[in-house]
Amino acid sequence: MIRNKNILDLSEQEAEIELIELATEITVADKNYHELDDPKISDADYDLLKVRNREIEHRFPSLKLANSPSDKIGSTVSSAFSKVVHQVKMMSLSNAFSTDDILNFDERLKRYLNMPSTQNLEYTAEPKIDGLSLCIRYEDGQLVLASTRGDGSIGENVTENAKTIADIPHTIKNAPKLLEVRGEVYMGHKDFKKLNERQATAGEKVFANPRNAAAGSLRQLDPVITKDRPLRFFAYSWGAISEQLAASQYLAISKLAEFGFSTNPLTKNFKKVEGLLKYYKKIEKQRASLDYDIDGIVYKVNNLATQKRLGFRTNTPRWAIAHKFAAEKAWTKILSIEIQIGRTGALSPVARLLPVTVGGVVVSNATLHNEDYIYGFDNVGNPIRDGKDIRIGDWVQIYRAGDVIPKISDVDHSKREGDSKSYSFPSVCPKCGSAALREEGDAVRRCTGGLVCPAQAIERLKHFVSRKAFDIEGLGARQIEMFFNDSDLSIKEPADIFNIEERDNENSSKLKDRLGWGEKSASNLFEAINSKKEIEFAVLLFSLGIRHVGETAAKLVAAHYLKWTDFINSMDRARNDRTVEFEKFLSIDGVGSVMANSLFEAFLPGPQRESIDRLTNQLSIMDFPVNEVKDSLISNKIIVFTGKLERMSRDEAKVSAERLGARVAGSVSSNTDIVVAGPGAGSKARKAIELGVQIITEDDWFSLVENR
Ligand code: IVH
Repeated sequence: MIRNKNILDLSEQEAEIELIELATEITVADKNYHELDDPKISDADYDLLKVRNREIEHRFPSLKLANSPSDKIGSTVSSAFSKVVHQVKMMSLSNAFSTDDILNFDERLKRYLNMPSTQNLEYTAEPKIDGLSLCIRYEDGQLVLASTRGDGSIGENVTENAKTIADIPHTIKNAPKLLEVRGEVYMGHKDFKKLNERQATAGEKVFANPRNAAAGSLRQLDPVITKDRPLRFFAYSWGAISEQLAASQYLAISKLAEFGFSTNPLTKNFKKVEGLLKYYKKIEKQRASLDYDIDGIVYKVNNLATQKRLGFRTNTPRWAIAHKFAAEKAWTKILSIEIQIGRTGALSPVARLLPVTVGGVVVSNATLHNEDYIYGFDNVGNPIRDGKDIRIGDWVQIYRAGDVIPKISDVDHSKREGDSKSYSFPSVCPKCGSAALREEGDAVRRCTGGLVCPAQAIERLKHFVSRKAFDIEGLGARQIEMFFNDSDLSIKEPADIFNIEERDNENSSKLKDRLGWGEKSASNLFEAINSKKEIEFAVLLFSLGIRHVGETAAKLVAAHYLKWTDFINSMDRARNDRTVEFEKFLSIDGVGSVMANSLFEAFLPGPQRESIDRLTNQLSIMDFPVNEVKDSLISNKIIVFTGKLERMSRDEAKVSAERLGARVAGSVSSNTDIVVAGPGAGSKARKAIELGVQIITEDDWFSLVENR
């Protein structure tokens, strides 16, 4: 339904009704798109619904529904198929957009592997297919299970459907006992066209693009329909496996081809990074003539032993990268510039745009980074966009790099109108009126309001409940905004979250009786909150949103202290004896003085510390989990690396030690168990001798950790 009434003219009652209608329409559209792969409305119309929903919520925050469509992201596992837990997580790829990104990737890997930059790493290159990934499991050469990627850990069981795809063998001769083949299900252009023609003639739904058609066909509840759909499959990787297929990526893929899988004939290997860049240009030219959609090139380190050393980050392998083809661009007009306040007070300018479609998605805002960026300068004062500034009313070129927030690539000054004025960046916080200052050398202007600034408080709370922090189901950014301004059941700081049920019990008007809530949703929320009263040390520390204490830093600190109480005691001791505690703290490998200062500051007596104490009094804080690796000779040991390491970088040494359950420290103390000393090890090795700590060479280290 198209709605024309200006949101400013809506009465509260009209808004209430419309929010419910919008939620219903968006839920139906989501289901059609994600589950039935049969969108009934255009992407642009869908975006309009979402925008209108958000805008009404913005005007009437208290009317926001508990399960508002604004809080939903991505696709979740559909309930129509049974769930499959992937034995080996299905990873995604990190993205690169330029030649420099790729050269940096190559250098980064060499640094990690401690290879001289003059030596070359060998890679494979192959097109990145725009389809959906599938994991096919063979036991004793028999296909036993096929599953979609889902969220990477849990997918959907689509075995019967996958079996109808001609490119997928049901049995494999001479296969390892266990083999999971992974690859992409896709539909060719010609087949897609024919399918759509057939669908149209039969009065059935027509698909928007080959990817949607492939997804919709694979996730049919009736495999007979899937069989009728022209699906194809390229194998490009593997998951759980009982024995290694080959020594290199290239040969492993050839082995999959021998087993009877279809592999991409454009897959090549290259002796060095330069070859990849030539290949990228060649395939980019060939792209239009291929019979299937590709959106970039995937590069993988060829040697599998090297892949193993490089390992994985949380969701992506270190040894692979996707080099995406250039993003689509579009011109549009800046309607206004809005300043958003971050949780640490940073003022971030955002351009509100005349909505424009870029790469199939409607874009209505773009980041403007900081004030220098608006005036045409980068962080170190060099001109960007030839020094052209950006003003309200300007025509700008927008692009989307991957899934990140749209950016501006150019501005057209020739379209500027006569009365255009240079943008004046605020020097006071637009939300609380406190001074907004820029520290020497900092590109960012910050609100000095601290705990007084409601915008910072809301952002801190949103961070507190975010996915990598407390991740409370049903308490997302939108609910935080609603509760923040709520007079009966307010959440002004994290501590308020954990006594909300108690307060609701004492109130005469109950949450369950409010519009958009009910018995079930209110009790679900309380349950979700209560289930998070037990929390890991590192997660808690990260959730506090202390400046410079991100996820990695929080883990480093937690891994060092192990117990929250030990950490707090150290912070409290620092009050009287700052230098000693500070020195000790800085011995944590990876910790610097900027982070240390910020952290110590947050735990000094004062309103911020009181707020933290109010929170932690209600929680049960779990110790940092020590990696219990069976048979590891170094689990729970504290290791110090010193001197020049020749076979690996410091990063790799650290990762390999931690993988085996050890902890790495930056300096030697009586707690140190092993010092790994390379050539030139000086004071740390001497100290180890003095303290009687075991000292070993890098070769000894390798024999200790090899093959584990
Ligand atoms: S390798 C551990 N190779 O891209 C590495 N992925 O953005 C796993 N994709 O989820 C991925 N073509 O669905 C790989 N030649 C290719 C690919 C490819 C398409 C997809 C795949 C993956 C996504 C990551």
